[in-house]
Amino acid sequence: MDTIIELKDVTMKFRMTTQKVDSIKEYAIRKFKRQLQYVDFLALDGISFDVKKGEVVGLIGLNGSGKSTTLKLVSGILKPTSGSVTVKGNISPLIELGAGFDYDLTARENVYLNGSVLGFSHAEMDSKMEEIIEFSELHDFMDTAIKNFSSGMIARLAFSIATNIKPEILIVDEILGVGDFLFQQKCEARINDMMSGGTTVLIVSHFTDQIERLCDRAVWLEKGKIKMIGEAREVCAEYKKIKQ
Ligand SMILES: Nc1ncnc2c1ncn2[C@@H]1O[C@H](COP(=O)(O)OP(=O)(O)O)[C@@H](O)[C@H]1O
Ligand SMILES: [Mg+2]
Repeated sequence: MDTIIELKDVTMKFRMTTQKVDSIKEYAIRKFKRQLQYVDFLALDGISFDVKKGEVVGLIGLNGSGKSTTLKLVSGILKPTSGSVTVKGNISPLIELGAGFDYDLTARENVYLNGSVLGFSHAEMDSKMEEIIEFSELHDFMDTAIKNFSSGMIARLAFSIATNIKPEILIVDEILGVGDFLFQQKCEARINDMMSGGTTVLIVSHFTDQIERLCDRAVWLEKGKIKMIGEAREVCAEYKKIKQ
């Protein structure tokens, strides 16, 4: 099978100041006087794995292990400090809840906005609008500014747009934990549909049962390194041992 995502020896360093600086003014003064000390924080430390076309791969690991950073590298939001990230296909990234939305705009306006961020014209989004509304179950709220939405409603809208544009690669970070139980089931069913249609899925969830249900393989990250990679059920079983 064709490789659609490939990470080769990827490191990601974040530069952080070590002292607490209370204001932008103080920051500027210290920077001017060269009094700021930086440390490089290695969020990802030599990660390599690949994903084949049509595979569903889960990323698991404790908070801060580098899961979101990995998804951002695959989505092209971040560039690696070293190593390479190769992606062959268009991506629909669901990474930060509400990224690609403007909270002052209505849900309908946000469909166009989010669509354009993903490279789709107004007319193209028009042709998808009906299905997006249908799946999100937000019929009565499409002309409401989304600042009035609950996080569950935002998640429904975001998931509905991201899956209705039929991407080759769907990336989902924790979002499936936001909505209510029924919507989660619906999202899982949708992901299963997309899998059968050949979409490649990369998913982060702290619910290991969800990873086991949905994924073929799982990657367990620990402090920026791959602790284990393999069949989802086996990796989740090992991961659950440390959580007890
Ligand atoms: N933009 C950033 N600047 C500095 N540190 C960051 C940044 N993004 C993430 N980190 C750090 O990198 C580590 C991994 O973060 P992340 O990938 O978000 O972990 P996870 O999603 O597994 O919880 C964390 O320690 C986090 O604080
Ligand atoms: Mg995260």
